[in-house]
This record gives sequence, structure tokens and C-alpha cells, in this order.
Amino acid sequence: MTDLLTIRSLSKEQIQNLLSLSQSIKKNPSAYSEALKGKTILQFFAENSTRTKLSFETAVKHLGGTNMSFSASASSLKKGESLLDTVQTIRQYGVHAVVLRHRAGLAPEFLADALEIPVMNAGDGRHEHPTQALLDGMTLQEHWKDESAGCEGKRVMILGDILHSRVARSNIHLMTKLGMRVTLCAPQTLLPSDLSLFPKVEVVHHPDELLPETDAVYLLRIQFERQNGLHIPSQREYRHFWGLTRERFKCLKPDAVVLHPGPMNRGLEIDSDVADDPRTLVLKQVENGVWVRAAVMHTLLCSSLKEQK
Ligand code: CP
Repeated sequence: MTDLLTIRSLSKEQIQNLLSLSQSIKKNPSAYSEALKGKTILQFFAENSTRTKLSFETAVKHLGGTNMSFSASASSLKKGESLLDTVQTIRQYGVHAVVLRHRAGLAPEFLADALEIPVMNAGDGRHEHPTQALLDGMTLQEHWKDESAGCEGKRVMILGDILHSRVARSNIHLMTKLGMRVTLCAPQTLLPSDLSLFPKVEVVHHPDELLPETDAVYLLRIQFERQNGLHIPSQREYRHFWGLTRERFKCLKPDAVVLHPGPMNRGLEIDSDVADDPRTLVLKQVENGVWVRAAVMHTLLCSSLKEQK
């Protein structure tokens, strides 16, 4: 692996290796505390972020590296400087890898082609969010660790704004590669028109029939900032037909769990008391984000082919 751009391009074995390393770092972080000694990681967030940015920065600190933060809104990007010129300029300050979040899909691929240092995709447009899917996979593997087949054969419903979701795209690839049975559930207006990229998923438009058979519900935020038209009749109707309300939550199996990548729209895709229920694993997801991002940086920077060039 030279960069982390998509889950789609990873094999099942590469995913499992990253998840195993995440667990090892989580269990014994001090064993990895000098892994990034002398290395500087550029945190290039050209779109807002709380979880991804802070967890990458925390992971760099755990591995003994140095963060270089970059505020796109206060930079010369605002004067029209290109993404590549900006990163090439920052490179001269001694950067060893770039974490990039960008509103344009494939922006990380573009940078990775142009740079000889590792690039990590922290979310690009509607395309992919690979470290989010890895931390979700880690959280589900931990949850089902005592079951003989682990994640294999578990039924996961991805429910919500799939059309605008890079998290959904990365998770469909990761969950199906790990053997989970994935159902997408959304109103027709919030589904991509072409689902041929995801041949292994089932699609339904209403959650109620399948909820009692589901082992995990993966909720997606309604992404108002990416919508350029009216995709839902009203927020009240969306909650009524597709939200994980308290009533729908009661229809789940007693051991089913709920995940959400955050930030949550409480009272829309998830009721507030469901968000705070112990079977909702949101804060475990947040915690695992640190270990997964540490594993990605360790993999790319401590054995990277790009680094060896
Ligand atoms: N889940 C996620 O990507 O959250 P942030 O936008 O806060 O990083």
C-alpha cells in the first residue's frame, strides 16, 4: 500500500491487516509511541471536520509524530492558488504524508499521482471515506468478537441519505468484503440512480419490514449541505417514514446495535434517546477512529513503498 484512497481498491486481506494492527495499537499504544518519530503529517482539511481531523491528529501524537495543521479558509487557496501548488509549497517545510479532506471527489487520487509521499483520503466529496469505514468495521468486529463467525453473515441495514454519502460507498465495499449482508434503505430520491457498482447489496425503500431481522442499523446523516434540490418531502415526514424513532428502535432484535458516523441530526434520522442508548455505538466508533488512523499511518509510513523511493 502506498496511499489510502478508497476501500474499493483494498483486498479483504489488506482490510483485515489494517483492522488487526488497529487492535494491536489500541491494546498497547506505548509499543508504537516512536513509530512516527521525526515525521510530519500535513492535516489538509478543505472541508469542515471534527472527528476525522481530531482523530488523525491524536493518532499522530500517539505515534510520536508531528502535526502540521492547515486552515484552508485562511490560506492562499482563497486567492486562487491551486490544490497541487498549495501542497507542493507546504512540502518544502518537510512534510512526510498528507491527510486530505476535500469537497471534490477524487482529489486525493489527483494528489497521490502528483506526490511521492503517502496521501490519505479523509473524505472526498460523495466518493469515499475509507478511514470511517475502517473504524466502523473495527467497531462491529469488536462487538461480534465472541460470535464464531464474527461479522460473516451479519445483516446490516444502511439507512438514510445514501445518494450524498461517501461513508455509505466506503462501507458498502468494506462490509461486503468482510462477508456482511448489506441492505440499503432510503427513499428513491436519496439513492444513486446507478447501483451497478454495488452488485452485492439489496435495496428497499422502507425500513420496517427488515428491521426485526437486522443485526446492525447504520444510520446516515441527511446532508443538507450537498443537496441542490428537494430530496425529502419534509423533515417531519422523513422522520416518520425513515427515522430511527424510539418506536422503530423497539422493533429491533434485543442484541441489534446502531451506528452513525456523526455528526447526528437528532430528531431527524435518529431520536435523541436512541442516540444515547447503550446499544448505539457512536462513541465507540469515535474512539476507534484514533486507532484505525494510527494503523493506516503506521502501514503507510513505516513500510511504505513511496517512502522507500
Ligand atoms: N464522520 C465524520 O467524518 O465526521 P467529521 O466530519 O466530523 O470528521
